[in-house]
Amino acid sequence: MNNKKELRIGLIGCGFMGRTHSNGYKRVGDFFPELAYRPVLKAVCARSKDRAKAFAEQWGYESFETDWKVLIARDDIDAVDICTPNASHAEIAIAAAAKGKMILCEKPLARTLAEAKTMTDAIEKAGVKNTVWYNYRRIPAVTLAKQIIDSGKLGKIFHYRANFLQDWTISPELPQGGEGLWRLDVDAAGSGVTGDLLAHCIDTAMWLNGGIQNVSAMTETFIKERVHQESGKVQKVGIDDACIFHCRFDNGSLGLFESTRYARGHKALYTFEINGEHASIRWDLHNMNRLEYFDHGDDSIVRGWRSILVTDGDQPYMNKWWVPGLSIGYEHSFVHQVADFLKSLETGAPCHPTFADALETQKVCEAVLASAASRSWKETGVVID
Ligand SMILES: NC(=O)c1ccc[n+]([C@@H]2O[C@H](COP(=O)([O-])OP(=O)(O)OC[C@H]3O[C@@H](n4cnc5c(N)ncnc54)[C@H](O)[C@@H]3O)[C@@H](O)[C@H]2O)c1
Repeated sequence: MNNKKELRIGLIGCGFMGRTHSNGYKRVGDFFPELAYRPVLKAVCARSKDRAKAFAEQWGYESFETDWKVLIARDDIDAVDICTPNASHAEIAIAAAAKGKMILCEKPLARTLAEAKTMTDAIEKAGVKNTVWYNYRRIPAVTLAKQIIDSGKLGKIFHYRANFLQDWTISPELPQGGEGLWRLDVDAAGSGVTGDLLAHCIDTAMWLNGGIQNVSAMTETFIKERVHQESGKVQKVGIDDACIFHCRFDNGSLGLFESTRYARGHKALYTFEINGEHASIRWDLHNMNRLEYFDHGDDSIVRGWRSILVTDGDQPYMNKWWVPGLSIGYEHSFVHQVADFLKSLETGAPCHPTFADALETQKVCEAVLASAASRSWKETGVVID
């Protein structure tokens, strides 16, 4: 362990993602012992001293800060991990890049395409290593879907369909803004379900099925006004509560996407289905270790959807965990992303999705919102190699 090179982490934001990432840094060395680098939990930053201190003690960070500017200026930090609400991603990333720090940034990259472009330019100018936490790519069943598609088994792709459904904002009494509720405040989040949930679906879709050329979308804000948690005043709600869009991919296939926080009964139902000439695949976050596969080439008397339990050692990432048949969970996708980031330090290859990749997703989000606002088709401008 001592002959490993250190990657000294400075993590900003002690909420949900602060915990998943910290867990990833702590677990990675045990399960990926071959890596040449090991993360060192150097410092964590929260605005409240009590919170920062408690988080540092609980998760094993060596020190804490209450101002991210102090954290990114420290000489003993190699990589800055941005786990704060969307509004602060750009300012932190640009400042950290100027200090020559590597950056791991939560998704969506930014609130707007303009912000995301400025961030990507800054990262590229500084030439610092970077990645964006679109972690669903690293759920083994989703990674397997990518391998199956790339092998050509599906043939020509006709359809890509994705949903991300939740139900937690239905009550009009729910305030907007501030701690825990920043996702409802357009100034903090940039958008509603489009940037929060559909961004995941778009990242996965373009990774699996290539670029999205143009979109036609509709959005709705079901609750028009909410009390703002910080001002105490009733304010207009500026986010999209629900968004539906259809689109055309570069490969000629048609896409259909839906996201809402008003689908009673659904907590985090992320699903996708891809229909090709020879075969189809589908996946469901609620059953995340399984990939469903239909092969038209099967003998007709046994042809049907098969449900593949993705736990064998020859399936993506699974030789790192338990024995065939035993499942892993949501948190492992973050361990995998940390492992791939550390590996990329050894190889010099980019750790996808990079800021440049996330910028393409941001282009689609922006086109979706513009299409809904103007009730017209919009070109995304996405360019995927
Ligand atoms: N990859 C994923 O699947 C996934 C899941 C959830 C959230 N996210 C993204 O992660 C980011 C954080 O989301 P979350 O769910 O962890 O939110 P959260 O509200 O649970 O945590 C955010 C934390 O940041 C802190 N914070 C805010 N401003 C700060 C500042 N200036 N300095 C230090 N700390 C500050 C808040 O106090 C809070 O503790 C968002 O961009 C979100 O979109 C990604």
